Formats: sequence, C-alpha cells, structure tokens
Amino acid sequence: MAKKDEQEKHEDHGKHDKRGKHDKQSEASEQGKSASAGSGSEQGKSASAGSGSEQGKNAKNGAEQVIKDFDNFIFRPTDIPETPIAQLVEELSEGLSTEDAAFMMEAATELRERLAPKRFAHSISVSRTAKKLAQLYGSDVSLCTRAGLVHDWDKCYRGQAVFDRAVEMGIELGKGYEHMEALFHSITGAKALERRFPGIDHRILQAVARHTSGAVDMSDVDMIVYISDMIEPLRTYESLDSLRELVGKVDLRGLFSACFKATIEHLIQNRRYLHPDSAAIWNEYVAVARGKSKK
Ligand SMILES: [Fe+2]
Ligand SMILES: [Fe+2]
Repeated sequence: MAKKDEQEKHEDHGKHDKRGKHDKQSEASEQGKSASAGSGSEQGKSASAGSGSEQGKNAKNGAEQVIKDFDNFIFRPTDIPETPIAQLVEELSEGLSTEDAAFMMEAATELRERLAPKRFAHSISVSRTAKKLAQLYGSDVSLCTRAGLVHDWDKCYRGQAVFDRAVEMGIELGKGYEHMEALFHSITGAKALERRFPGIDHRILQAVARHTSGAVDMSDVDMIVYISDMIEPLRTYESLDSLRELVGKVDLRGLFSACFKATIEHLIQNRRYLHPDSAAIWNEYVAVARGKSKK
C-alpha cells in the first residue's frame, strides 16, 4: 500500500532509493499503541516532566480550538500549484513579521522554479503544518514556518547530480552514506541555504539538515519540521492517521518519537539501509521516555 508520497518521505528519512511494500495495518496498530501504552505511554508522561512539561502545558492551553483548526486544516483541499505565490505567502505569514513575509516571498518564488509542482506544493504544505504545530506546542512560529518552507530546497537533484551537489557544497559524506543519496538533500540544502540567504538563522539550517535523519538532540524546531514533513495534508499513506491523531495528545517529543519509529519500522520492513545514527537516536529517545537519560 505504500503510496508514492509516503515512499518519498521514507526515502527522506531512511535515505533510501529503493521502494517496496509496507505493512501499514501493522504499523498503524503499533503507532496507535504508542499514544497510550509502552514507550508511547512514557512519552505521554514526559509531558509532565522536564522540557516536556512546558510543551504539555502549551498543548493544553487552548488546545481544543487549535486541534480543531488543525483537523480542519489537515483535511482541507488544496490547490497550491495553481495559487499565486503572493497569496500563498500571505497565508503563511499571517500573524508574522514583514521580515518573515519578505523571506518567504523570496524563498517561495525561487522554490517554485527549483522544484517540481508536487514538491513545491509539499513545501508549502510542510510550512503550513509547521506553523500550526509551532502554535500548538508553543514553539517559534517564525522559525518553524520558514524552515518548513525551505526544508526541501535541494530536493531538485537526482542520481549523480546529488553527489555532484555535495562536492559543489564542499561536503564530504563519510562512510556509510554511499547508499543514502536520498538524505543528501537535507545536508546540501542547509549549506546551499546558508549561501543563498546570508545571515539566515542557524536554527533553520539545523532543522533543514536534520529533517531526514533526525538527531539525538533535536530542538523543538527540528522536531516540528521533521514531523510536519511526515504528516502534512498532502501525504496520504494509511498509517498517517494514527500519527496525526497524536497531535496535541502527546508532547512534541512523543510525537517526534512516534514519527521516527514509523520511519524505522518502514525501513526495516522494506529492507532498506538505516542511517548510521538511527540506533543512537532511537536509544536516546527511549532512554528519555523511560527517564534514564543522563542528559
Ligand atoms: Fe526532504
Ligand atoms: Fe519534504
């Protein structure tokens, strides 16, 4: 059942270029459990301890309305490819600064040229989702909206061009990355954005760089971009609903953990390569959820 856009997402995360079938029923079941049992239960608990506490409070403050808005937004039809850039940016930048609007106007205009229509629509959709999640979880709305918009900046390269782009950006990808060209766009994209937009906030660059593989110390902005990339409205895979249902019900770390888990499961089930850091990332989030992290 794995639909193309899901596969693309998992390629992003698993950094793989082969596609295969995914047992979504099984995955949905596991993901559903994660909201109320096992590690997910502990993720839920983390809303009342440590950094999760603030996120939990933020999620509860006015959460009903925000979640309602989010649900409406998720299921809203979209005609992004045909919509004028100015109109898209007007919506994205609503409530944000003129500086935000100017950045998004410039970035979106260039993105429409760089990316295929479907990928451009995805970028707008990730930005919208990141904005909603930032509002819901009390994160930085400006950074999340901006980072969501540009997260796939370098997704326009394929095949050998991906490797050429890494060389062009002066990036040396170490051993273990040879089979993971799908993750390169996050790394080269962050570098390219730094050159294209001098002075761009480093937190945006970090979120872009981490949106495929994740990291053991994901910031709120990093997690929101990662999650938004997986659950934005244009994604259609079956297990998506079980991830979306967690929005506002678990803290941000719990939501990220569920998304990361779904990615790892997909990669293993489909015999794809795992990013070398995946085990360390997973172990860290399990440790935090169990209250055993030394951090
Ligand atoms: Fe991506
Ligand atoms: Fe993406």
